[in-house]
Amino acid sequence: MKVLVFDTAAEASAKAFDYFGEALGKGASVFGLATGSTPEKLYEMMTQSDIDFTQATSINLDEYYGLSGSHPQSYRYFMEQHLFNEKPFKHNYLPNGLNENVDEETARYDQIIAENPIDLQLLGIGVNGHIGFNEPGSDFEGKTALVDLTTSTIEANKRFFESVEDVPTKAYSMGIKSIMSAKQILLLAFGESKAEIIKAMVEGPITTDVPASILQNHDNVVVIVDKAAASLL
Ligand code: GLP
Repeated sequence: MKVLVFDTAAEASAKAFDYFGEALGKGASVFGLATGSTPEKLYEMMTQSDIDFTQATSINLDEYYGLSGSHPQSYRYFMEQHLFNEKPFKHNYLPNGLNENVDEETARYDQIIAENPIDLQLLGIGVNGHIGFNEPGSDFEGKTALVDLTTSTIEANKRFFESVEDVPTKAYSMGIKSIMSAKQILLLAFGESKAEIIKAMVEGPITTDVPASILQNHDNVVVIVDKAAASLL
């Protein structure tokens, strides 16, 4: 794991932007994308740049179960607002949160991932170590699944909803095995609230208690953090 520490989240996001540019320049065409507040600055930089994704495919990590893509808190809506409306891609894939046929939806998404091997996967990290919505205890060999969100994740994400009752309790998430199959992974984390989990991910044992710790086994991971998130390393 390569860990790059920057004074500010803006500088760290600029570095992540450079990695996207480099990857595109080397022929990368499939980008795994993430939601959450962490990549917002990076997406803003992309929309303000001339980076060209018109021949590229995006595959997002996850989507809330029960929310349509036009719901303001859905991850599809987030991606459209922050990136896709300004930066068109050839294809944008996200799980369909409204598909109640779980076997069909998970198989559909795994097929998309199999047909479009991910060149560069962007990740954030939950305060409990989740990547995508792969919560503590998730199988390292897991593929796309409908997962139960932990209380900690529901609490962390309630800030985007009117009340905690409005936060969906389940989500479709790409599995850890699919994340690990990406050729290159960039994980971004900013702020003091991520310091403990960044330490556990980088320096702790590889354990399903900290899903992101499995990234220690990937041979091309770059962790891009600000000083605050790196403060316990
Ligand atoms: C969400 C997403 C993750 C994201 C994490 C951290 O639950 N499913 O993909 O990395 O939370 O979010 P934030 O960047 O807002 O801290």
